[in-house]
Amino acid sequence: MASMEGLIGLMNRIQRACTALGDHGGGGDLPTLWESLPTIAVVGGQSSGKSSVLESIVGTDFLPRGSGIVTRRPLVLQLHQTDDGSQEYAEFLHMPKTRFTDFARVRQEIADETDRLTGKTKQISPVPIHLSIYSPKVVNLTLVDLPGLTKVAVEGQPESIVQDIENMPNCIILAISPANQDIATSDAIKLAKEVDPTGERTFGVLTKLDLMDKGTNALDVLEGRAYRLQNPWVGIVNRSQADINRKVDMIAAREKEREYFESSPDYAHLASRMGSEYLAKLLSEHLESVIKARIPSITAVINKTIDELESELDTTGRAVAADPGAQLYTILDLCRAFDRVFKEHLDGGRSGGDR
Ligand code: GDP
Ligand code: NA
Ligand code: MG
Repeated sequence: MASMEGLIGLMNRIQRACTALGDHGGGGDLPTLWESLPTIAVVGGQSSGKSSVLESIVGTDFLPRGSGIVTRRPLVLQLHQTDDGSQEYAEFLHMPKTRFTDFARVRQEIADETDRLTGKTKQISPVPIHLSIYSPKVVNLTLVDLPGLTKVAVEGQPESIVQDIENMPNCIILAISPANQDIATSDAIKLAKEVDPTGERTFGVLTKLDLMDKGTNALDVLEGRAYRLQNPWVGIVNRSQADINRKVDMIAAREKEREYFESSPDYAHLASRMGSEYLAKLLSEHLESVIKARIPSITAVINKTIDELESELDTTGRAVAADPGAQLYTILDLCRAFDRVFKEHLDGGRSGGDR
């Protein structure tokens, strides 16, 4: 178990290093490495609750949210679990020297960095913002918050997100649908059907249960009858816009969510498998099992990358002190560490028992 935590942490560091290198324009086959590492993409229609779900998984307020098209650039979010007692902080890839401890400033920086690229035009850009959060409260996860699918279609690029997800065979799809709309018309489910017809790598999340018409419930969806997936559906009650305006904090929101399920005549029997905290745990466990299953193929990519980096360093010369060279070394070191941990894990697996 401890070594799996180590794997997700290392994977996060490699992803970050690859991205930094990509920004410097070099990299050879590194996108292959990036694509081979598992992440979770959050998809769904506009205002389905994608950003809200992401925030509840993190357990901290830090995302711009609202009824309009608030998310206009993909946000690649890496969660790093730290030891208990340490203060939680955030770091952006585009501001590596700044540690944010005030999450209102994180929210502002996401908005500003979005505008820096898109102007105030409210256009959507495919260029991601990279954010890492270090906290004792989070589970190790990498998530991607995407602009709403509806808007992307309006912008005339409906294929791009589908393409991105198809290009990431290890990508887990967190498909967000609002309970107050017909599941048959859900953008998230439409996309999931297209990129993951067997439903193996899709997690269905049903938001806004509290906004359903009185006398109706979502048991058909939550119990897998309306749309069958391999993984269980999870129901969520996020903060309403009124809650956000009243500054209801995350702890209070989670408490309210738990009460909602426990006291609901419709959902009480499912209460232990509903809600944001349960979803975060489910995803982290799933990510671990995906990494485990992918160890052989990821190791192959890592070994190829090590070879390429070594020959690149040979030709560029080991004395290169410039950033790109230094980053190559970083990635090389991380790849070697990754390879070592993989091997240890495989050996551990062979000599019997997982834990
Ligand atoms: P996104 O566009 O998919 O990222 O959606 P947001 O997370 O920004 O949410 C859109 C709006 O719906 C916000 O005003 C949220 O407060 C509200 N909202 C999201 N989930 C829920 C929910 O479960 N219940 C209620 N009542 N409101 C929600
Ligand atoms: Na929105
Ligand atoms: Mg959003």
